[in-house]
Amino acid sequence: MNPLLDVLLVLATLIYSYLEAFVKLFVPVKRKSVSGELVLITGAGHGVGRATAFEFAKRHSRLVLWDINKVKKEIGDVSILVNNAGVITAADLLSTQDHQVERMFEVNILAHIWTTRAFLPAMMNNNYGHIVTVASAAGHFVTSFMVAYCSSKFAAVGFHKALTEELSTLGKDGIKTTCLCPVFINTGFVKNPSTRLGKILEVEEVVEALMEGILTNQKMVFVPSVQRVALLLEKLFPERALAVLKKMTDVKFDAVTGQRSAQ
Ligand SMILES: NC(=O)c1ccc[n+]([C@@H]2O[C@H](COP(=O)([O-])OP(=O)(O)OC[C@H]3O[C@@H](n4cnc5c(N)ncnc54)[C@H](O)[C@@H]3O)[C@@H](O)[C@H]2O)c1
Repeated sequence: MNPLLDVLLVLATLIYSYLEAFVKLFVPVKRKSVSGELVLITGAGHGVGRATAFEFAKRHSRLVLWDINKVKKEIGDVSILVNNAGVITAADLLSTQDHQVERMFEVNILAHIWTTRAFLPAMMNNNYGHIVTVASAAGHFVTSFMVAYCSSKFAAVGFHKALTEELSTLGKDGIKTTCLCPVFINTGFVKNPSTRLGKILEVEEVVEALMEGILTNQKMVFVPSVQRVALLLEKLFPERALAVLKKMTDVKFDAVTGQRSAQ
């Protein structure tokens, strides 16, 4: 193809996308119905998963709240999969035990791959479905004493992006994807979190943003959305300035430090 045409195509797409985003500021976005959909939510016993289950129930979805492995055979074709279950060990890397590292990767990313592989074939056949990845701000920004957790959440964000790309390449535009990336939430998942960036989020506001993201087919849901600006700054600012900014945020939580894992 002609390189000039390539550039023009990119420019035209860029202008179209900005115009579309501008128009959407004034026109209410259409929300899809999830009534009657079979929704599987992992980690639905507490926190984000539990509150999300209530929101789907309010909208008359049929729910499968996951806690056993062979679930696919028993329930049939899931049309909305919410990979929410997550675990964390807050500790410096050398204090984190081998089994804790493995558990974070098993639950925070490998489980997403296994569940998606189980339910994607039916979604592909129908070119219909929605795969939701509950990741974290820790999938975009790093924090000390969460090395394994951040790594697993970066993997979850990468999984969501790569899967989205692959579905598009395969022409499966009926299968939607959404990734949720919140900062600290008041669920007890992280012990005693605090930051100068703002208050700790309540589950309700996170789930409200998540549901809006699912119903309007948003690909990436940041809570709070100002994280988008931070991502941009990270690309633009020199390292020293970023380090000063980071220090100002004063992120704190309970973590094990200074021990040496026996394994
Ligand atoms: N709480 C936060 O500060 C925060 C911030 C960003 C992202 N997240 C992410 O949000 C998700 C939900 O976190 P939360 O705060 O609601 O945590 P939570 O601990 O309140 O709830 C998680 C639920 O998942 C369940 N669970 C854990 N492992 C499981 C497994 N293997 N199979 C099935 N269920 C399992 C737990 O029993 C629990 O009921 C996690 O993926 C977490 O990483 C949490």
